[in-house]
Amino acid sequence: MRSVKIAVFASGRGSNYEAIYEAIQAKRLDATVVAVVCDKPEAQVIQTARAHGIKVLSIVPNTYTNKKAYEQAILTFLHEQQVEFIVLAGYMRLIGETLLQAFPRRIVNIHPSLLPYFKGKDAIGQAIVANAKVTGVTVHYVDEGMDTGEIIAQEGLMLNPTWNRETIERYVHRIEHQLYPETLQKIFRKLGKIG
Ligand code: GRF
Repeated sequence: MRSVKIAVFASGRGSNYEAIYEAIQAKRLDATVVAVVCDKPEAQVIQTARAHGIKVLSIVPNTYTNKKAYEQAILTFLHEQQVEFIVLAGYMRLIGETLLQAFPRRIVNIHPSLLPYFKGKDAIGQAIVANAKVTGVTVHYVDEGMDTGEIIAQEGLMLNPTWNRETIERYVHRIEHQLYPETLQKIFRKLGKIG
């Protein structure tokens, strides 16, 4: 199968970026990361991706007059790298119409809850406050809303009441690091079939 050229968007640590990169190296995912886009100059993911020899666009939103101009700059970079598919992995920003129109049904996100529960920021914190007995991970298509796009895959996690936040985060990440590459592979298989 041919390798899909992807861009990973991230704002932080980048453990999901790393899981995707490793899945590609291990040939569990037929893709090539041709670009990483990061809106936080101090984010760890920038160093990690550069160490892998990946082209990184480190871009600061408030240096642009508006969201359209910011996304247009990203789009130019993505076109230069011939990106076919965008993978959001801890990118802490809503995607606007410029990118949505350029990549219809070609942008996915991973969210640390069983959507539609606990949308938005700090989904794990929300689950803790709600005293939830179960949470999980969702991979979904991205639309103009906050974590509202069509759900592609989900995996639940029963919460043991003795677990603290750190423990929950560890289990959630463990699920994410497996579910995201697996789900991407399924999406790309389907894409490959249709061209
Ligand atoms: C993940 O929990 C992801 O679900 C959420 O942000 C976190 C990013 O973690 N959207 P990392 O930067 O991939 O380690």
